[in-house]
Amino acid sequence: MTHVNTADFDVYPRISQLLRVECLDRWLTLRWHDGFTARFHYLWLRDNCPCEACVHQVTKEQTFELLAIDAAIKPVSANVVDGLLNLVWPGNHQSTYDSGWLRYHSYSESPAADPVPQPILWDAALGAPPTFDGAAILTNDDALLAWASALASHGCSLLTGVPKSANVGDVARRLGPVRDTNFGLLWDVVAEPDPVTNANTALPLPPHVDLPTREYQPGIQLLHCLVNEATGGESILVDGFRLADEVKNTRPDLYETLCTIPWDWANRAKTSDYRFTSPILVTNTQGTVTEVRLGNWLRAPLTSVPFDQVEQAYAAYRYIFALSFDDRFALKFRLGPGDCMVFDNRRILHARGAFSGEAGHRHLQGCYTERDELYSRLRMLHRAQRVEAVRVCTTSSL
Ligand code: OGA
Ligand code: ZN
Ligand code: ZN
Repeated sequence: MTHVNTADFDVYPRISQLLRVECLDRWLTLRWHDGFTARFHYLWLRDNCPCEACVHQVTKEQTFELLAIDAAIKPVSANVVDGLLNLVWPGNHQSTYDSGWLRYHSYSESPAADPVPQPILWDAALGAPPTFDGAAILTNDDALLAWASALASHGCSLLTGVPKSANVGDVARRLGPVRDTNFGLLWDVVAEPDPVTNANTALPLPPHVDLPTREYQPGIQLLHCLVNEATGGESILVDGFRLADEVKNTRPDLYETLCTIPWDWANRAKTSDYRFTSPILVTNTQGTVTEVRLGNWLRAPLTSVPFDQVEQAYAAYRYIFALSFDDRFALKFRLGPGDCMVFDNRRILHARGAFSGEAGHRHLQGCYTERDELYSRLRMLHRAQRVEAVRVCTTSSL
């Protein structure tokens, strides 16, 4: 098989050989042997030429200047040679594209492939968070991949048997760097006589996300149980995307309010003053909910909303907040020493029941990392699998 330069560091096994190319006015159509077809605009192809004049071969970043070409550029010839696509552009610039790379990046029939799974929404019927062996994920990349995939799709997970030699930061660093905040790189959740937050009391904590008070709310949260001899203090997880769906289906008017009217959030503190204003449901350009912001004790007095929208804002807030307590949506479990729950803090709400320390101590240790780190790790684990598949395939064909 001919191997060709691509514009990145990944590998693209050929699922099927490229068969033929058909040129139209502004794009071409490629057909593979297995019947898969995809259209690519000429402008897109010229923009993605992987040759050494267009891409720096060490950084793999583009040196090509998009404005240097005519937007209506067309190749003077297009051929499939040895399973590769060869294009010759005006001025005799030649581009050769790997067929596996083209297929991976095809965009005409469906979005380009990405190993990061789409969210799978869940409710109480899930029974328990996807559960994995905490020792295995620390040392074994297959175990890491299984855990990271479930965390990305379900937004929540439970690790059991995290060895005493590893702290919560070691677990997070299997995904990527730990995100620092004013609460410290690693923070302790214990009932204290002089707490700086309700989390460090024995009070119940209603379903919430951490730090909606920040412009960039941490993407992944880890809570590692070191000691739990207290009475009560049960752990609760609720899928915020599922709640958003429920509001959309039952009260579309309030859903609209949650997506558009902001709330004010604040972290009341003696030594810092973090505030942010954002709708409770944050949506992307397709209208899909990408982030949930809800934290009852982290609300500032609502002042950013026009006077005549304040009651509507309260009605919407009360509706989704009431749903977050509904047992139909909740996973409830008790953390024991060595358990670590890891969840998407921009999607999943977490809560804890009140506890009494009379029977014994309760100590969790937490930290944050980011969705970006999880997704990058997932892609790297998939890339490693593809490299291995190509290596096995090349070795066996020798
Ligand atoms: C927190 C928190 C949960 C718990 O510290 O933000 O939600 O079980 N803690 O103590
Ligand atoms: Zn080029
Ligand atoms: Zn919390």
